[in-house]
Amino acid sequence: MNILIVDDESLQRNLLAGFLAKQGYTAIEAASGEEALHRFMADAVGLVLLDHRMPGMGGDEVLERMKTINPLVPVIMITAYGAVDTAVRAMQLGADDFLEKPVDLELLLTRIRAIEERFYIADDAARVEEAIDVEALPVRLIAGSPAMRQVLSLALRAAPSPWTVLIQGETGTGKELIARLVHLLSPRREEPFVALNCAAVPEGLFESELFGHEKGAFTGAVNRRRGVMEQAHGGTLMLDEVGELPLAVQAKLLRSLQEQTICRVGGEQPIPVDVRIVAATNRNLKQMAADGDFREDLYFRLNVIKIEIPPLRRRKEEIPELIRFFLAKLDSRAVLDDQALQQLTKYHFPGNVRELEHILQRTVTLARSPRIGLRDLPPEIRDYRGPVAEGDLVNRLAEIERQLLIEALERHQWVQTKAAADLGISERVLRYKMERLEIVKRK
Ligand SMILES: Nc1ncnc2c1ncn2[C@@H]1O[C@H](COP(=O)(O)OP(=O)(O)OP(=O)(O)O)[C@@H](O)[C@H]1O
Ligand SMILES: [Mg+2]
Repeated sequence: MNILIVDDESLQRNLLAGFLAKQGYTAIEAASGEEALHRFMADAVGLVLLDHRMPGMGGDEVLERMKTINPLVPVIMITAYGAVDTAVRAMQLGADDFLEKPVDLELLLTRIRAIEERFYIADDAARVEEAIDVEALPVRLIAGSPAMRQVLSLALRAAPSPWTVLIQGETGTGKELIARLVHLLSPRREEPFVALNCAAVPEGLFESELFGHEKGAFTGAVNRRRGVMEQAHGGTLMLDEVGELPLAVQAKLLRSLQEQTICRVGGEQPIPVDVRIVAATNRNLKQMAADGDFREDLYFRLNVIKIEIPPLRRRKEEIPELIRFFLAKLDSRAVLDDQALQQLTKYHFPGNVRELEHILQRTVTLARSPRIGLRDLPPEIRDYRGPVAEGDLVNRLAEIERQLLIEALERHQWVQTKAAADLGISERVLRYKMERLEIVKRK
């Protein structure tokens, strides 16, 4: 675990850092409040030891800011000896614990262990297994793999809190499903759940979609319209494909979230809104923020609780159960024979769970008998040879490259500019490779 030590005195920092390093922690040092906030955002900090009295930005302010950036990271405030009121105020501001100077190192260690236990015990896989009754959830889903159990566990813990959830996962992995689950398990469940797919909004209409507009605000605004922020008032707003938000709109959204008000386009008065945001994306927002394609402050605002849904190829053990689930949903009596099941399990599912569902719909409709065999499967699956082809190194590498390109293209609905950006190559190189590797979009 990374522990951030914030203190303006280098002696004190060195002492703590040396001790913590010996205990197996990674110590990160910051000599000022400003530096601390920077490191807090840049490194995956698991715990903060925060000196209260520092010149410039003091401990109280640093604490407050950290708690708005990520309230889940525990902070231990280090106060002057006997300064009880300081300690009390720190706890009121959200500190998880406090220690007096000079810091008793053994005591520090016990406190760190206690905090670790409080925060990480819920991650214990066995307990999670016991605790979650999937059948009782307000959303029907399959979550048989340890990876999906973790996803559920996080969603369950995040749901009752007011904090923003960022769901990351490839296309068709169930991001919307999890977003709905979070909403339905939250105190907002009786209020609206509104989803806005940012990838589907034309560039010029974002503001009006988000904040609404007054009658006559622009050509075509014949009537007053409420935006999704207003529609979701009291409830949850899912910002799907949030990576597609233009930078200018990101700034407005951030301001609106901070002030908890919206202004309709063409409107004068700010209107108070209360929404909980669940954002989803299949892109790497952190990388986008580093590249300047996504506002860093908005990223931190959205990324309070991150839920990463693994692609289906990483949880293939769920495939048989998912097949039964979807066949039941289709009200079909069809069964797959062993060969068909085996071939489906081998397949890499670039379109994840949704692709599996579509494949089953197609197959069941077209199959010649309720007993589905290899020959009934769509050709792309029947003929799938697995990720690593036979042959020499050159051929096998080409096959892997081919798979990676297809996956990236699938992820971006075959929009080549986006797939190329994702792969870190130019569009020209992508086209050249597609030609050489004979990649054509399948129907
Ligand atoms: N674990 C699961 N159990 C059952 N059904 C699932 C599961 N995960 C996803 N699905 C189903 O797969 C389909 C796709 O899920 P969803 O729309 O939530 O994915 P998504 O990640 O939002 O996709 P996209 O990136 O394309 O928006 C839906 O029909 C959903 O009900
Ligand atoms: Mg979706």
